[in-house]
Amino acid sequence: LQGLRTKVLGQKVHVYGEVDSTQTIAHALVASGAPEGTLVLAEAQTAGRGRMGRAWHSPAGKGIWMSLVLTPRVPVYFLPQLTLLSAVALCRSIQKVCQVDIGIKWPNDLLIKGKKVSGILLESSGEDERLKYVIAGIGISVNLKVEDYPEELRSVATSLAIESGAEIKRETLVQAFLLEFEELYALYLEKGFSPIRLLWEALSVTLKRPIRTHSPSGVIEGIADSLDDSGALTVITGNGEKIKVYSGDIELR
Ligand code: BTN
Repeated sequence: LQGLRTKVLGQKVHVYGEVDSTQTIAHALVASGAPEGTLVLAEAQTAGRGRMGRAWHSPAGKGIWMSLVLTPRVPVYFLPQLTLLSAVALCRSIQKVCQVDIGIKWPNDLLIKGKKVSGILLESSGEDERLKYVIAGIGISVNLKVEDYPEELRSVATSLAIESGAEIKRETLVQAFLLEFEELYALYLEKGFSPIRLLWEALSVTLKRPIRTHSPSGVIEGIADSLDDSGALTVITGNGEKIKVYSGDIELR
């Protein structure tokens, strides 16, 4: 990554052709001593994974499929905050590089006109109630064309090229993301979650909108109201009850 302006993130980069998942490779690199900031990039993934056990469509040469190693010594329950921070960094870097109207759907999906263009999967390992390491897996559909998507994804997924009408240089976007992430991460480690939370709220396409989600106790429907200090989403239901959603997915209604 020539001209990269970060101090730590992306200073060690491992680039692959086809892999099963960059996440798997990043975990193995950490096990053999890879430091914070190590970045794994692949042209294609044969078993790209998404949140909640889903698959991630990762065709060759068309997207950014990458995993970033982080070692924040923070309590394990801070992980949702890092998830939201990742979404903010990604959203801001895309806004800097492309002309698209992009926003964040809780917790960390990036949408353009209601269609998903990028997703984030955080996998972590903890020790003594603190995080030992986190692998931030990021998938950005950059230069895919409509025909690169299987039929069933076309109504729900899109790419930066489809939406902006221009091909985007992947390296430029990777560098912009690493710089943005490094700045926000430093801000977070110094000042805590509050500044990140404000940035997230400003980029959200979820807040003040009617949503539906499934919890262990049944379906929750209401208006997404705000984020709390832990990163949970507060939903106000029809009868005025406030319910917190800590994990999972929401549907925008
Ligand atoms: C989601 O929205 O469900 C998260 C998708 C995350 C996909 C990325 S692509 C690079 C990294 N390697 C994987 O196998 N998954 C993540």
